[in-house]
Amino acid sequence: MADKFNLKEKTILITGASSGIGRSCAIECSRAGATVLAFGRNEDRLQETLDKLHTRGRYFSVDLNDTETVDQTMKSLEEEGTTIDGVIFSAGISTTLPLRMITPDKIQPIFDTNVSSAIYLAKWVTRKKFVPKNGSSLVFLSSVMGSVGESGKTIYSLSKGAILAASRSMAVELASKKIRVNCISPGVVETPMSDGAVYSRNEEARKKIEDLHPLGLGDPEDVANAAIYLLCDVAKWVTGTNLFVDGGYTAK
Ligand SMILES: NC(=O)c1ccc[n+]([C@@H]2O[C@H](COP(=O)([O-])OP(=O)(O)OC[C@H]3O[C@@H](n4cnc5c(N)ncnc54)[C@H](OP(=O)(O)O)[C@@H]3O)[C@@H](O)[C@H]2O)c1
Repeated sequence: MADKFNLKEKTILITGASSGIGRSCAIECSRAGATVLAFGRNEDRLQETLDKLHTRGRYFSVDLNDTETVDQTMKSLEEEGTTIDGVIFSAGISTTLPLRMITPDKIQPIFDTNVSSAIYLAKWVTRKKFVPKNGSSLVFLSSVMGSVGESGKTIYSLSKGAILAASRSMAVELASKKIRVNCISPGVVETPMSDGAVYSRNEEARKKIEDLHPLGLGDPEDVANAAIYLLCDVAKWVTGTNLFVDGGYTAK
């Protein structure tokens, strides 16, 4: 049974692979047998990720908001005949801002990184030349904030809700090409992103966040394991869905 949950002979592209959840996804996918294409911006941290892999991997230093660099990178992969069995879209940025402080210029960068750049890359990896004959699987990192609300999270929520909504339409549109599209919605996972958040600045705020999760805060591996399930052939009938991996945050 366990042997079914593997990514042997699969090539998995992971964005945000230089940190947090994306890095853990790279490590766990390689443990499951995948060849990893690790996308991120910081080359030192991308190399650190590669050093931790169990199988072959390559990194690509790409600012996903820079469409020219994305085009160049994807063209070179296309020219060398690389096919991509799965993608984990983990690159993302967060913000906590009360409504009274929101201006359009505060929304745009979050939307660009969390939504537009992911859709742009999804366009590339679903091109015919990249899709193996058995199809492929796209996994987007949404968040519990895409489905429920929290004070100060208007901009982040709108980006995570948008990717959730977009993933369902992509799932319908791409099903005939055997491309599955799903989201994972984590609760708070301990990563550099959550370490930098307002709620990590003092013990009291942190305790409040912990208490919202009946099983406590998550580890990046908790999300990586869920992503592996969605990438594996065992999930061949799963598309257009959203998997909460949140320690019970949304159960209450
Ligand atoms: N941590 C949580 O509690 C939590 C909860 C729910 C959902 N999520 C979602 O899970 C995903 C991963 O979060 P994380 O906690 O692992 O964050 P993280 O540790 O801060 O890592 C973010 C990653 O995104 C990459 N990135 C950001 N902007 C980019 C850009 N323009 N181009 C290319 N790469 C870019 C960063 O690359 P460089 O560092 O190389 O620049 C980094 O690898 C995000 O989408 C986040 O919204 C996180």
